[in-house]
Amino acid sequence: MFPLKRRKITKVEDENQENKICKFPEVAIFILERKMGASRKAFLTRLGRSKGFLIEESLSSSTTHVVSESNTGDEVQTWLNNHTNRQDTTHSVHLLDISWLTESMAEGRPLTPQDRHRLKTSTEPSVDTTTTLMKSYACQRRTPLKHHNAFLTDALEILAANAEFNENEGRSVAFRRSASVLKALPQAVHGMDDLRNLPCLGEHSLRIIKEILEDGTSREVESTVQSAQYQAMKALTGIFGVGVKSADRWFREGLRSPLDLIRTGQKLNQAQQAGVRYYNDLNRPVTKKEAVAISHIVEEAVNAVLPGAIIELMGGFRRGKEVGHDVDFLITHTEEGEEEGLMPKIINWLEKQGLLLYQKTTRNSYLESKDGPARPPHNMDRFERCFSIFKLERDKDSSRSLQETASYDSSTMEGDDRTKEQEPVPSWRAVRVDLVVSPYSQFAFATLGWTGSKLFERELRRWAGQEKGMSLSSHALYDSKQQRYLRANSEEEIFAYLGLEYIPPCERNA
Ligand code: UTP
Ligand code: MN
Repeated sequence: MFPLKRRKITKVEDENQENKICKFPEVAIFILERKMGASRKAFLTRLGRSKGFLIEESLSSSTTHVVSESNTGDEVQTWLNNHTNRQDTTHSVHLLDISWLTESMAEGRPLTPQDRHRLKTSTEPSVDTTTTLMKSYACQRRTPLKHHNAFLTDALEILAANAEFNENEGRSVAFRRSASVLKALPQAVHGMDDLRNLPCLGEHSLRIIKEILEDGTSREVESTVQSAQYQAMKALTGIFGVGVKSADRWFREGLRSPLDLIRTGQKLNQAQQAGVRYYNDLNRPVTKKEAVAISHIVEEAVNAVLPGAIIELMGGFRRGKEVGHDVDFLITHTEEGEEEGLMPKIINWLEKQGLLLYQKTTRNSYLESKDGPARPPHNMDRFERCFSIFKLERDKDSSRSLQETASYDSSTMEGDDRTKEQEPVPSWRAVRVDLVVSPYSQFAFATLGWTGSKLFERELRRWAGQEKGMSLSSHALYDSKQQRYLRANSEEEIFAYLGLEYIPPCERNA
């Protein structure tokens, strides 16, 4: 028996209209659609009900028997873990193969489940729900945008960023994984006991968490935030077009800020020049409202040059974020080939309207036959892609409120030069926009790859490689055992190939 929620005494809800003639109210069956498909589920539901079985529309606190087809016990358990309320007291349900239902229907009554009907799970379910529910890969978990442990995850993510600045990727990922586990917890951590049996929490992360729980703050995190290196690296990598390597070189030369770059006449490439010029704007969060305004512009541009094309918002905004550092779009056309050469046309249209402050387009260089299944490092994909900076007209409200905070803005870039305070705020702001064009056959993979979060993507690829012997990229999924590509038309199909429960975008905030 698998622990679920407390069983209610009252049952047979009105929603189950067709269950009116139910002859066996003590056996409440839930049929799992996963791998079975909606039509077969509907068929079995009708058949079962016609024989007087109580078949529930959805999993509920009154469910006693969960029936599935072609799923392992662990897969069903994972599904249940993700679809039951964690805080509830548990009660038990039978996890059964479809053969139990078909045999029962043939008998005309629910049979007592035999061993051969039962699905085996690898871990014995325990009463400690946290232990059984927290899976070790972030792509196995639901991570909402708003969670209960920001006071811990913010600290761990500062250390992760600092490790990145020091080009220590392993350490950085370790801190991010720890933070991600805490984001998935259904409640705030109060003491070290709450962390028992959680995966991914390394010694260093635990030490930091312990310090914060006991003292309210961590000395290591505090000194990191205060350090000249961290502050300079944050300011310098915060410039569009500047990576850790350049930032680190400048830091060693004694430079600390974008102003220092200008003052010392550093040689900057075009992206970096734009990055310095629009530094304040690009470091001010893009709001959802602004993202929507940009969406309208992109839609207009794309429709003008290729009517019927599909434009989808990706990245953080697709995951439900209220603000972002940029706006990401994926563009395709249902007729494969129509998307070829699309990007230059879009850019041309935008440029003619005076909507672009900067753009750099890279061509699509992905060729399945040539590139093969091996994914390029760091998930760099090869789509036709445009890194751009849009010139977005401000609406009147935001212009006014910005006018009021203008002194703050000028101080971030201009130091203490108070004369700048009087300058009128421009009627527009700069916004980073990423445009990606994908062939329709790769669209599902591109959608999954461009939705993020970055850690979620990383974990998906790790899961595919380590647990499934597959190779996942934003272009394709390759099964090494079968030595073939697995085609998909939706994200749901890709999760199913990977043997993962489908996680909607708003719960991929790992
Ligand atoms: P972003 O860096 O835009 O992050 O990448 P985000 O989640 O939208 O968050 P903010 O609000 O902008 O900071 C969006 C997604 O695109 C993928 C990343 O993995 C991420 O999931 N991506 C980004 C790529 O696949 N390739 C890239 O070269 C860049
Ligand atoms: Mn983004």
